[in-house]
Amino acid sequence: MIVCKSPAEIEKMRRSGHATRQILEEAKRLVRPGVSTLDLERYVERRLREMGAQPAFKGYRGYPCCMCTSVNDEIVHGIPSHRRLKEGDIISLDLGVVIDGYYSDAAMTVPVGEISDSLKRLLRVTEESVELAVQQARVGKRVGDISAAIQQHAEKNGFAVVRDLCGHGIGRQLHEEPQVPNFGRAGYGPALKEGMVVAIEAMVNAGGYAMKVADDHWTALTTDGSCSAHFEQVVAITRNGPDRLTQL
Ligand code: MF3
Ligand code: CO
Repeated sequence: MIVCKSPAEIEKMRRSGHATRQILEEAKRLVRPGVSTLDLERYVERRLREMGAQPAFKGYRGYPCCMCTSVNDEIVHGIPSHRRLKEGDIISLDLGVVIDGYYSDAAMTVPVGEISDSLKRLLRVTEESVELAVQQARVGKRVGDISAAIQQHAEKNGFAVVRDLCGHGIGRQLHEEPQVPNFGRAGYGPALKEGMVVAIEAMVNAGGYAMKVADDHWTALTTDGSCSAHFEQVVAITRNGPDRLTQL
């Protein structure tokens, strides 16, 4: 069942989304060589407390932290650790927040110091693919229009989209229907209706699409060792077009 949200609920989700984006932007500014992923987690945990916001991921199916920190060939769900970032790495920061019972979820991949031109292109194309997908989040379109926008832009640029993980509806729960895959056919899938809210999350690999899960049972990695980027936004479908709730 897809739960549609009232305008008042969407405003509550925007407050949650703004907190997520604000904290992510602050964490991004701390990313530099020598910083550990646990340093970033500790900062985020403190800021959540200061804002009176709950972490959405901590305890979710036993996930141990507030944020996911996924480095280089890690696609998503990397667990913060004592691993120190190095010049030339890329790191995906993924954060979920609950405020007043409403969830938000956003992610971005950021460079550590100076990165190669090919990694800059991976980050740019992945972010662009989310933006193109957001443009499809309109009454009268279908989930497949969102999926196809991500897939086409990534593949046109020589990259692959992850098949095993999806974007999702979001609201009073972190994961609601519908699933929003990163691949699909325009014109197919559930119809988009006013009040639906979806987390659109492009996971794009520089190499092949195949994914495996590490021994920690969480970290998703590319099987070929290629780098992967992740950008995620929560978008409400309104009569006035897409409304980005995780944008300041
Ligand atoms: N953005 C991811 C998702 O929607 C993060 C989930 S991490 C988890 O699935 F720990 F909460 F599972
Ligand atoms: Co998500």
